[in-house]
Amino acid sequence: MGENEKTWDFDSWADQYDEAVASDFQLYARYDEVLDFVVEIVNVIPRTRVLDIGTGTGNLALRYLDRGATVVGLDPSRKMLAKAIKKAGDNPGAELRKVVAPFLHIPYPDDYFDAVVSTYAFHHIPHRLKLSSVYEMIRVLKPGGTWGYWEI
Ligand SMILES: C[S@@+](CC[C@H](N)C(=O)[O-])C[C@H]1O[C@@H](n2cnc3c(N)ncnc32)[C@H](O)[C@@H]1O
Repeated sequence: MGENEKTWDFDSWADQYDEAVASDFQLYARYDEVLDFVVEIVNVIPRTRVLDIGTGTGNLALRYLDRGATVVGLDPSRKMLAKAIKKAGDNPGAELRKVVAPFLHIPYPDDYFDAVVSTYAFHHIPHRLKLSSVYEMIRVLKPGGTWGYWEI
């Protein structure tokens, strides 16, 4: 598998995704609590610059936007992102972008973000590329920044 390949067709799942996470009590058990927990451990104050990788329909990104953070949400799925963009409305802190390989090539400078977060997405990159991805996340994270993720 190439580094840019998605492991699941999220474009075709986008319309059902939010219903699925609310009703799947195995894979997405206590989904809302999980996202709240990530926000609790990676706390923000207004204008904190957060990167959410594999932002999907924006459920984690929205939590940070609601707290006044500036949120860059990256995702390879145009349709998942369209849901997130709709939810964010005209929030000036939202920057939600399609990126082909958002764990591996984060199109931002070194030391740019105060926090890097991700939920239910890291497993979509091949195992052999995970270390490179961690380096890439650290590259864009300011020294002393915070980092939190949830994986299944
Ligand atoms: C299960 S959803 C999680 C969405 C959101 N983070 C959440 O917690 O609801 C996984 C997301 O990862 C994205 N994705 C798929 N392959 C990816 C990759 N290689 N790098 C980053 N994100 C990817 C999908 O498009 C999808 O939006």
